[in-house]
Amino acid sequence: MDKKKVAQKIKELREELNHHNYKYYVKNNPEISDYEYDQLLKKLEKLEDKYPDLITPDTPTQRVGGKPLDEFQTVKHKIPMLSLANTYNEQELIDFDERVQKNVGKVEYVVEPKIDGAGIALYYENGVFVRGATRGDGIKGDDITQNLKTIHSIPLRLQHDVLSTIEVRGEVFMTKSGFKEYNKEQIKQDKQPFANPRNAAAGSIRQLDPNIVAERPLDAFIYLLSYTETPFNTQEKVLDALKKAGFKTNPLSKKVKNINEAIKYCKKLEEKRDSLDYDIDGAVLKVNSIKKQQNLGSTSKNPRWAISYKFAAQQATTVLKDIDIQVGRTGALTPVAILKPVDVGGVTVSRATLHNFDELKRKDIRIHDTVLIERSGDVIPQVVKSITEKRSGEEQKKPIPKTCPICNTPVQHKEGEVAIRCPNKMCPARLKWRMKYYASRDAMDIDHLGESTVDKLLDKNMIENVADLYDLKKEDILQIEGFKEKSAQNLIESIKQSKKQDLSRLIYGLGIRHVGKYAAQLLARHFSSIDKLAEATEEELKEIDGLGEKSAEAIATFFTSEENITLINRLKEYGVNTESKKAEKEQSLKGKRFVFTGSLEDLSRSKAGDIVKEQGGMVTSSVSKNVNYVVVGKKPGSKYEKAKKQGIPIIKEDEFLYMTKKKEKR
Ligand code: IVH
Repeated sequence: MDKKKVAQKIKELREELNHHNYKYYVKNNPEISDYEYDQLLKKLEKLEDKYPDLITPDTPTQRVGGKPLDEFQTVKHKIPMLSLANTYNEQELIDFDERVQKNVGKVEYVVEPKIDGAGIALYYENGVFVRGATRGDGIKGDDITQNLKTIHSIPLRLQHDVLSTIEVRGEVFMTKSGFKEYNKEQIKQDKQPFANPRNAAAGSIRQLDPNIVAERPLDAFIYLLSYTETPFNTQEKVLDALKKAGFKTNPLSKKVKNINEAIKYCKKLEEKRDSLDYDIDGAVLKVNSIKKQQNLGSTSKNPRWAISYKFAAQQATTVLKDIDIQVGRTGALTPVAILKPVDVGGVTVSRATLHNFDELKRKDIRIHDTVLIERSGDVIPQVVKSITEKRSGEEQKKPIPKTCPICNTPVQHKEGEVAIRCPNKMCPARLKWRMKYYASRDAMDIDHLGESTVDKLLDKNMIENVADLYDLKKEDILQIEGFKEKSAQNLIESIKQSKKQDLSRLIYGLGIRHVGKYAAQLLARHFSSIDKLAEATEEELKEIDGLGEKSAEAIATFFTSEENITLINRLKEYGVNTESKKAEKEQSLKGKRFVFTGSLEDLSRSKAGDIVKEQGGMVTSSVSKNVNYVVVGKKPGSKYEKAKKQGIPIIKEDEFLYMTKKKEKR
């Protein structure tokens, strides 16, 4: 290929990759599978390897892979980054509106969620992302370009030439679900968890190593155009242009006619707060007209054309009455604060996690202390700090236990590990967790086997390990308080059904240390059966792409235990599936493209998409000749008509479920 052709091919690949990146990360609506995306990226990488002079700063291959820095460079913001004045009630908003009207007459507002993350400024030159910075002191911030490039929803090149040389402002955040998963993993690996998604986001973008940043589930909303060569009339149009340029803008931002409507919408956003997958701590009101914004101007600290309305705090202070100790599945002892019940942003909180004894010591939290509690969405509330000014001298430190509070076995504290553990594998607390873990949704998904049922089964010595579950008879269950004929039958049926689960779920359900959902899936794809996995040496396991060293070690150790081998043999005897069905399944929809239209009854759209992807197919948003099936639900849209016209096979939800073996034909 001559160089000109290569340059053209590279250009096309970049455009294609940017398009799919945008569909996936900004629109949440991918058109191709991850595998296909990776193939395209590899193609581009290969060409760029051969022709390094054709590498540009905005190429999609350059999102990850930068070298760790010694320190950040300081950059001066093109325009100072002001902060917003806060209001806490309706009257203060009305006062703000009066001040505005006095200066510029009647105004419309745009009301936006106030994202609780870390503020950033992004600078684009001729449509290419050249620099990104933290807020810093408002005048100067840290150059965190490398880190921001790893966030896929931040475009490296703008999609539309309305915006070309610009500076925009926005907020980096971590989703609540991402935060939960991330912390779970941190704790599992004996690392310090983050206190909340905001700290996680702010801490992450200040990491010197971009490779670490790339592993964190970060995202960014953009909400302000702070420098532009093409002026806009209104904030509403600005948001529209930002969206067209490829930025992720917040879908809940809304233009309203006056302050009363603005107040109403602020309250609506507050009601929505807990249902969102990212933290918001208030609403922001912005005067819609840019001209009026300019007329209003700013003080040295805040703009006069915008204000924040802060929601009720999700923090509160209360008294810590006692510190309880929980023993987890792996034997780790976790201190838990027992609190005088307190309302935190509308929810009564009476327990909060203290994570581990290191944290307890570091924060110097004592029994009878007055403590600050924080809650975020459905994340377990936590103790932020103790208010030492309120101490009377009566407060007591909680000593690190020498023995397990459940089974009295002396505890272990391994060097280099944060956790203190009960080493007794038969500790009732550990058995209970193992059982719960095995039955949980991500593992064997056994319906009707809740915590209290597990407790009762253990109390009555009916089970000792997960294999015993398959030995239970209806008569046994009927001895448990609260169970009747029908409910006992249901439980037996659920246990029986779990025998058919995928190998990846069984591997996950065994609760091997350092083996989460993804590692389990990886292992099930790699090995055809549990026996093959058990036979693998630590070295072989370490060779598996994507599996960490600690996981490899833990897996090898797990299968050296005779007890574990006996357990697996028993599971096999009871008919639990220990073979990988993945390979065969993956073939079934391989290369097939699906379009969904109308509302589905049994499945959510995302679940339907998961099924397609799981079995090797892909979901597309528009009907074309390349589509193999159009799945129609209730009230299908124009895609249905189009499919009919083009003669593309149309199937109902039921047929889709049969096809993907999610339902058996009657
Ligand atoms: S506008 C000149 N809009 O809140 C005013 N800020 O104290 C620029 N924030 O530093 C800010 N969501 O980090 C604006 N929709 C939003 C926001 C928002 C969150 C943050 C931002 C800013 C702080 C204001």
